[in-house]
Amino acid sequence: MRIYAVGGKGGVGKTTVACFLSLLLAKKGKTLIISTDLAHSIKDFFSIKESSQEFRISESFIGYEPDAREGLRKYISGIEEKTRRNFSPIVFEDFKPFLNFSSKDPSNYDLILYEKLKEKVIKGDYQFIVVDTAATGQVLKFLSLPQRLLIWYGLLLKWRKKYVALREKIKGKQEDELLSMAEKKKKEAEEAKKKLGEMEFIWVFEPGTLSIKESLRAMEEMKGRVKLRALVANRFSGENRLVETVVKRGRNLFGEVNLIKIPSFEEEPFPGTTQGEQFKDYLKNLT
Ligand SMILES: Nc1ncnc2c1ncn2[C@@H]1O[C@H](COP(=O)(O)OP(=O)(O)O)[C@@H](O)[C@H]1O
Ligand SMILES: [Mg+2]
Repeated sequence: MRIYAVGGKGGVGKTTVACFLSLLLAKKGKTLIISTDLAHSIKDFFSIKESSQEFRISESFIGYEPDAREGLRKYISGIEEKTRRNFSPIVFEDFKPFLNFSSKDPSNYDLILYEKLKEKVIKGDYQFIVVDTAATGQVLKFLSLPQRLLIWYGLLLKWRKKYVALREKIKGKQEDELLSMAEKKKKEAEEAKKKLGEMEFIWVFEPGTLSIKESLRAMEEMKGRVKLRALVANRFSGENRLVETVVKRGRNLFGEVNLIKIPSFEEEPFPGTTQGEQFKDYLKNLT
């Protein structure tokens, strides 16, 4: 399995690159494109009217726009059930307002989107997974989340083991739901961290000051955590000092990095249009 993630500042062309790249990959093997942007646009790109979160784009090509709000409600209600079963009613009552708040807290959406991506990566049904990310901040969060989760499950496991050992002395040996859950989650987090660490990043940018500055900062943070497969200079209009700066820094930090230059088209590059076909051709040597 190969995982590609397409990142960059808002509006630079991430979705366009991710969708056309996925179309090319789907010719070679089963491909999933997943959007981790709350404001999904894969269906819009392919003019798909279906309302389901997962949808077929072609024979070997599936799209996935996870509903983070619904996902969060389900995730928290799962925690609520486990808390109710495993803690005293007093603890549960104290904990409930926090759970109620968390189930609607937008700062948790990225965690859910990460979980959805993790599920697909661990399941391993696809030869290629392409992640159409939201803006740069989310990418940086996704890079640190695996470690944060590992630390958290590690702690949970440690505390629960102590509790279970004490309980065993009083009540004898018993299955423990939380202990099994923490063990399973920790294993999953380890696997996801490893697989997502092999993720190949495609960084899209425009030859404008803000996009360039953001790209330079992001590359510094990505170094050592992911591979930078290619830099895509979108809406490229001739050699430019700003573009040179990004390429130079990219190669300094990551070694050999592909550079793809895509011009600005008069019409939006969508599937089935001449501009779209041209756009797609630029991405060919990425597959
Ligand atoms: N090279 C290009 N020439 C013309 N229009 C483009 C080009 N690349 C992207 N676009 C258009 O720019 C808009 C933003 O692109 P999109 O892929 O949605 O960016 P992002 O996902 O980074 O927000 C879309 O309307 C898209 O059709
Ligand atoms: Mg987008």
